[in-house]
Amino acid sequence: KLRIGILISGGGSNMAALVKAAGEADFPAEVAVVVSNRAGAGGLAKAEAAGIATAVIDHKAFPDREAFDAAIDETLAAHGVEFVCLAGFMRLLTEGFVTRWHNRMINIHPALLPLFKGLNTHQRALDAGVKFHGATVHFVRFGMDEGPIIAQGAVPVLASDDAATLAARVLGAEHRIYPLALRLVASGRARVEGEKVVCEDMGEPPGAMI
Ligand code: GAR
Repeated sequence: KLRIGILISGGGSNMAALVKAAGEADFPAEVAVVVSNRAGAGGLAKAEAAGIATAVIDHKAFPDREAFDAAIDETLAAHGVEFVCLAGFMRLLTEGFVTRWHNRMINIHPALLPLFKGLNTHQRALDAGVKFHGATVHFVRFGMDEGPIIAQGAVPVLASDDAATLAARVLGAEHRIYPLALRLVASGRARVEGEKVVCEDMGEPPGAMI
């Protein structure tokens, strides 16, 4: 099984969805370590409760981004990590780190990329008046929220929505598409060709209406 490391900053519900999926016997990846840049991240307790090794690497303890990223790399190497999943990790990674993990690192973003890169995606979707919103799992490139798209989940935007209700609906989609995307990539059924992801043998479409 592919050994993955999950990087988090917060509540870790996507991390928990990946851990749950990885508990299935036929899942092609196992979670080797969960790393948080925040000691108080709620996801740490969730990972510990699931018996997963955890590490806190506080970005504030390092002089620059290079030193912080080098510390993450060391921890990933110590746990034999072969593949990285960013799951609500709120730090920008250096070009060196992104290059080292080229096609071996994926991220989940709470919008239908390439729309709404960056922060506050749900309020911006409401402000734009889009009728569908959602989430995207993609390979990480240097450039925020850029990279070949593996899977997307779309949800309707309701007239009654505020950012919180829309975020909750999108999060439900995230918890479905992240395990699906990791399964596709870890099993070798999805791979990057010419900066697009091609999938073979799909039992389930990678773009799903949730
Ligand atoms: C998720 O909605 C994820 O898509 C988003 O943060 C949330 C983390 O929730 N990620 C980003 O905004 C990345 N820039 P979680 O900690 O419960 O998985």
